[in-house]
Amino acid sequence: MRSIAAYAAPALPAAVVVGFFVWFANWIPQTRWQAPQKLAISEAMTPAELGALGATLVRQRGCLTCHTIEPGAGVKGGGRGPNLADVASRRARGAEGAPGNLVEYLVQSLYEPGAYLVEGFANIMPPSTAAPAKLGYEEVVAVVNYLQSLGGRSSVKIGDIARPSGAAAAPAPVTAAASDPKALFDSLGCAGCHSLEAGKNVLGPSLDAAALAKAAAARKMSLEALVLEAIVDPKAYEAKEFPAGVMPQDYGAKLTGAQLRSLVEYLAGRKS
Ligand code: HEC
Ligand code: HEC
Repeated sequence: MRSIAAYAAPALPAAVVVGFFVWFANWIPQTRWQAPQKLAISEAMTPAELGALGATLVRQRGCLTCHTIEPGAGVKGGGRGPNLADVASRRARGAEGAPGNLVEYLVQSLYEPGAYLVEGFANIMPPSTAAPAKLGYEEVVAVVNYLQSLGGRSSVKIGDIARPSGAAAAPAPVTAAASDPKALFDSLGCAGCHSLEAGKNVLGPSLDAAALAKAAAARKMSLEALVLEAIVDPKAYEAKEFPAGVMPQDYGAKLTGAQLRSLVEYLAGRKS
């Protein structure tokens, strides 16, 4: 007589398969549909644990839209920002004209990227405490530990580094006069992500007036309305072919009305 196990055995894989789909069905909504959760960071975490969280933050908060991590590719790499592989060994003693030790150098790179510019690169990196990365203090500590681990060892505990000063955290004031929209375009960093030449896409789409007019027509909007919306509320519409959430979200709060109008008129009125 056959044992019960002989009948049950063929059913086992089926149970495993069903179990897998039950698990999978539960798993999908969590990974797919939940808004990115704030990572729980506690003061008890070791620098290595913080560094592991930092690796996730660097991926989630848009750093890799500009930076690459390519071992052996030198500072330049293939990105719009420096290659971050080995940044810790490269900057073990900071840089001339910047803090002379690694941790302070990295902290300054995050809080005030424009204070020291890596040779050969433009001033396009937004402060990491501002949009789009919006790192909180503990998250900055995590990211610094991660950057240290690229060519060195993580060593920073929460409390070891300075909190961002209110001034550094607040969006930088716009200095260019409203009457000079091209200067605004450059000083606001638009030029770092957008070309004004037809067909030339950088991180964001070309802002050639004809292309903008086409986009506006497709969305049944006036050209000015499209440009205004894109600057003040970039999330309102995001073109599929470009990375979402990359364009800074705080121009609306930063620009005076006159500056905004001048930029809109400039972009909408350029002859290509
Ligand atoms: C819009 C593009 C852009 C984004 C987004 C960006 N960076 Fe940068 N980053 C740059 C550029 C360009 C430089 C070089 C110019 C400078 O020093 O500011 C730079 C410099 C740096 C440096 C100094 C590197 C060196 O070799 O000395 C570090 C560290 C850094 N970024 C980290 C980050 C982190 C972490 C994030 C995400 C929170 C980030 N960056 C987001 C463009 C970007
Ligand atoms: C860090 C990169 C970045 C910066 C800086 C940036 N943008 Fe953008 N911008 C994007 C990306 C990516 C898109 C496309 C995705 C989207 O619609 O958000 C975009 C979309 C746009 C669009 C819509 C274009 C279309 O065809 O629909 C306009 C207009 C625009 N940006 C204007 C500006 C202006 C003006 C500035 C400066 C005040 C600026 N952007 C700064 C990345 C950037």
